[in-house]
Amino acid sequence: VASFDLQAYQLERGKQIMQALDRYTPSADTPPVLLHQAMRYSLMGGGKRIRPLLCVAGAESVGGEAEAVFPMACALEMIHTFSLIHDDLPAIDNDDMRRGRATLHKAYDESTAILAGDALHALAFGTIADHQTGDPSRVLRCVALLAESAGTLGMVGGQVDDIYYERREYGYDILRSIHARKTGALINAAILSGAILCGATPEQEAALTHYGNEVGVAFQIVDDCLDVTGDTATLGKPAKSDLKLDKATYPKLFGLEKSEQMARQASKSALSALSDFGPSADPLRAFAHYIVERQT
Ligand code: IPE
Ligand code: IPE
Ligand code: MG
Ligand code: MG
Ligand code: MG
Repeated sequence: VASFDLQAYQLERGKQIMQALDRYTPSADTPPVLLHQAMRYSLMGGGKRIRPLLCVAGAESVGGEAEAVFPMACALEMIHTFSLIHDDLPAIDNDDMRRGRATLHKAYDESTAILAGDALHALAFGTIADHQTGDPSRVLRCVALLAESAGTLGMVGGQVDDIYYERREYGYDILRSIHARKTGALINAAILSGAILCGATPEQEAALTHYGNEVGVAFQIVDDCLDVTGDTATLGKPAKSDLKLDKATYPKLFGLEKSEQMARQASKSALSALSDFGPSADPLRAFAHYIVERQT
């Protein structure tokens, strides 16, 4: 992995993903212009593109081509962006900054932000239906995976409990479950869908599920830690947002040092799941390191 240049990979693949997102999203002059401008404001500005990049890396890990999964990769980013728009609303986290700019409800207004989120949710599934090629039964499995990871058993369910456990007592099982659902599920779906579309074997799927679950939880533990240690300018979103709302987080339950250690442990466990993969999984290996070292 030392020889693998993740930054170059993120730059090159990230550019291709941006171009694909642009193609799949109605142009800014399509009526209602306000809605399409708002969707593009959130979707096209900033963002690390981790989920689409993990989808591509999942595809490559089983010998597939990046181009073969771009619609699925973009659908993941659309769902993720919708989840961020709604997460920032006054009724949820009430944050004013995202991806280095005003949140959508601040740059536009609340009604537009709610509806742009709704529209990105629908656009995600439409993008797969309209553009994702390959074996139809594999595509259908990925649709089901995306729906489950975003829905009541995944992101939305996790967000509900994230809100419920503000200012409330909780233990490790609840905390891990919140993080696995609100963030881990979509990240896991990213890796697995890329691999499924490119013909992963059941053994590869099992290994990548292990990898995805560990990396997914590690990602949110680090997000919790950065809320405490990071600054708003570097993060591109308000630091101390979790403290303000007294959220259920790893640092609140375990302290910072232990939380960072748990994230590193999860990253190691993710790496161990890739032991049967060759160099084709180097992007995934590099991501497992990156996710716990990132400052943003
Ligand atoms: C932020 O996700 C929300 C979480 C689920 C932790 P990212 O850190 O991937 O945000 P962007 O897409 O880079 O803005
Ligand atoms: C986000 O968790 C989970 C989502 C499903 C959007 P956070 O609320 O911690 O994400 P940030 O810190 O606002 O990006
Ligand atoms: Mg939140
Ligand atoms: Mg938030
Ligand atoms: Mg956070």
